[in-house]
Amino acid sequence: KKIKILEVRSELGAGTRGSSLGPDALRIACLNQGSDYFRRYNSVTVPDLNYVLFDKDHFPLAHHLDAIYTVQKSVASTVEQTLRFGEFPIILSGDHSSANATIAGIKAAYPSKTLGVIWIDAHADIHSPYTTPSGNVHGMPLAAALGEDNRACQRQQPDAETEFFWRRLQNLAEPGPKLLPQHLVYVAVRDTEPEEEAIIERLGIRWIRLPEIQEKGSRQLTREIYEHLRFCDLVYISFDVDSLDSRFSKGTGTPVEDGLFLSEGENLCQDLLENSRVVCFEMGEINPTLDHENTMAHNAFGILEKATAAIEKRLRLDEVISR
Ligand code: ARG
Ligand code: MN
Ligand code: MN
Ligand code: MN
Repeated sequence: KKIKILEVRSELGAGTRGSSLGPDALRIACLNQGSDYFRRYNSVTVPDLNYVLFDKDHFPLAHHLDAIYTVQKSVASTVEQTLRFGEFPIILSGDHSSANATIAGIKAAYPSKTLGVIWIDAHADIHSPYTTPSGNVHGMPLAAALGEDNRACQRQQPDAETEFFWRRLQNLAEPGPKLLPQHLVYVAVRDTEPEEEAIIERLGIRWIRLPEIQEKGSRQLTREIYEHLRFCDLVYISFDVDSLDSRFSKGTGTPVEDGLFLSEGENLCQDLLENSRVVCFEMGEINPTLDHENTMAHNAFGILEKATAAIEKRLRLDEVISR
């Protein structure tokens, strides 16, 4: 089994410009560190639709929603094909809205399996056009995957066209929710709006905050997370670089203080990715235009290498077992 890299060069879901350059920033960090990472793996790119940024935006409560839907269709089918081909997809995304498409692609490849999601992020990304404070779709992927609108906390009414495309995101690849709330775990989430807190509470989503991470350490947390996800056949891990403390993540659109240390991010990714149920890893929201000397990508590349080494180790083990 091989690893395949999927670069998603879109920043349409972000409120700040530049994250579509995130995959390039990682490639530069790789070169400057003398690593052969990007030579070791095949990669595919989901084409750039960012010219749409210069068009008139018809969706104030979900900016560029029509174009995002086009990007997501292509991400979902690429993820599906990669998995069907027997490869392990590592997704390097621009903005985090792509995670909805990743989840849809995994479900399309394994329709009858139960999927668990480990969401490492400063943000809960569980808004909808009915609750969003910003209209940025990168704040919405989990509501789309869960098939949630959170109308109980509605603060605005999107127009019919917005509702139409929002339903299309929720029904991407196959109709219906892709994920159950009891199969989602938040890690390092610390910047949420009241509407998000209300839905997290109502759905009873497991939420591991910073103090618990520091108290228990990554080994014990990994055990507890997989115990919580014991009924899931497959697991997807989504790593938004703003989960890292803002000291290490200046080059991202929405940095938040009091986050993970680099070593904590590394250890968590490493330990979590050694589990044989993990079928996909995503890293996103690197924005080199906000950065100084590509620091964010350098930090993130270190984590990506550790994470990939854990995946490789596990894939080799799988081979030994199946022989
Ligand atoms: N909750 C805020 C919003 O909806 C911030 C979301 C940030 N999301 C991200 N993937 N960086 O605008
Ligand atoms: Mn975030
Ligand atoms: Mn906030
Ligand atoms: Mn995010």
